[in-house]
Amino acid sequence: MRITVVGTGYVGLITSICLCEMGHAVTNIDIDAKRITQLNNGRSVIYEPGLQQLLEKSLKNRRLFFTIDPRFAYAQADLIFIAVGTPENPDGTANLSFLQEAVYAIAAHIEKDVIICTKSTVPVGTNERIAEMIKDMTPSQLHVSIVSNPEFLREGSAINDFFHGDRIVIGTEDSKAASVLQELYAPLNTEIMVTDIRSAEMIKYASNAFLATKISFINEIAAICEKVGADISQVADGIGKDKRIGSSFLNAGIGYGGSCFPKDTKALVQLAGHVDHPFELLEAVIGVNNRQHTLAVAKAKEAAGGLEGKRVALLGLAFKPNTDDIREAPSLTILKMLIQENADVIAYDPAATLNIQRLFGNEIEYTENLETALKNADLAIIATEWESITKFPLVKYAELMKAPLVIDGRNCYSLSDIERHSITYISVGRSPHLQSAIAKV
Ligand SMILES: NC(=O)c1ccc[n+]([C@@H]2O[C@H](COP(=O)([O-])OP(=O)(O)OC[C@H]3O[C@@H](n4cnc5c(N)ncnc54)[C@H](O)[C@@H]3O)[C@@H](O)[C@H]2O)c1
Repeated sequence: MRITVVGTGYVGLITSICLCEMGHAVTNIDIDAKRITQLNNGRSVIYEPGLQQLLEKSLKNRRLFFTIDPRFAYAQADLIFIAVGTPENPDGTANLSFLQEAVYAIAAHIEKDVIICTKSTVPVGTNERIAEMIKDMTPSQLHVSIVSNPEFLREGSAINDFFHGDRIVIGTEDSKAASVLQELYAPLNTEIMVTDIRSAEMIKYASNAFLATKISFINEIAAICEKVGADISQVADGIGKDKRIGSSFLNAGIGYGGSCFPKDTKALVQLAGHVDHPFELLEAVIGVNNRQHTLAVAKAKEAAGGLEGKRVALLGLAFKPNTDDIREAPSLTILKMLIQENADVIAYDPAATLNIQRLFGNEIEYTENLETALKNADLAIIATEWESITKFPLVKYAELMKAPLVIDGRNCYSLSDIERHSITYISVGRSPHLQSAIAKV
């Protein structure tokens, strides 16, 4: 079977490389010639653990071909996965222009029957629209099947998620196309659900909306814990043990970011609005998350008595550990606020520094060395729970910083560990009484 994947981003590149790992030959097309050159030279365009090695392997085995040529990619393909970006429009709706361009290019170049499978996250009804576009643009003797196959991988563990997902959703009205995909995915031993096309599209949005809701819920509980002197870590542990609730996505912190939750929640609010159903719960989830992004700087300002001229070490820039992705990361809001307060900022991240540098230029300093970031800092803000941060010896904060004031936006350390060090430590949802007691040590 000839497989083409459209887009070499987090979803497209992972899909291509993992399909190669399963033994398939894959053509991966992008419109960005620079990315294709870099990939053909064997260098990954994104950071994802294990990806570089698998890329080299697939190129060496001559299973993976990168191209910008739509004829080469589409003319003889049996199965095409679309994995182009669907970023948000200013009004929160999904921007489908990349998807539309990809569909036009596919329609203009296919020469045989083909299955088109959308991995991009798209509003309900989009795959039906793709079917209409293809029908309008291709000769009637060609049979083109349309499938919605939403992607659930998590950046930072994307390769593992491809091989060991919780489920694979195949949304289509075409039973032959469903069989082809069931056969393709069978070796993964993951539960496969075949649904109608609209339900598949909705499953993706509803999943992300539910996970975002869990995060904003626990952050609201954390805010109340701070006021009543309870400890959110113990509370989350206690409620997570209830199987009906589950323990994942109950880590209180400075909110979710990334390329999915923020845009997908807004797109679902828009989608609901268009069918005359105001999604009030999800609007509140988004509002809570926006507030969380500002929390660390508000706490820092209060604890340090103002930030003007203060040396601030911002630890972690990526929206989560093990990725270089900074889209909608809380660090972006934090940096804007710190610059506004005239703080003197040095930012640390093991993988995302270059991406932040592209946005903030010389407004701040950068380092990939945690100790350099902390040296002579008046305060540190932890925005991403990289292992290099969670495993960092606590004793070094006091040794390196001018004043060891740490605002931990990700609850990286246990309070009992903190107690053994002379650090003024402010985290999320953990008793301020304990914190002020610790501050006196
Ligand atoms: N990133 C994730 O963790 C994740 C997880 C699940 C689902 N998704 C969804 O998957 C889709 C892709 O996300 P991503 O993070 O991989 O995006 P991305 O921005 O990292 O990559 C998209 C790629 O598509 C390319 N592209 C755009 N138009 C093209 C065209 N016409 N032909 C060929 N290539 C084209 C771009 O140049 C870019 O390289 C989105 O809809 C996203 O919501 C993302």
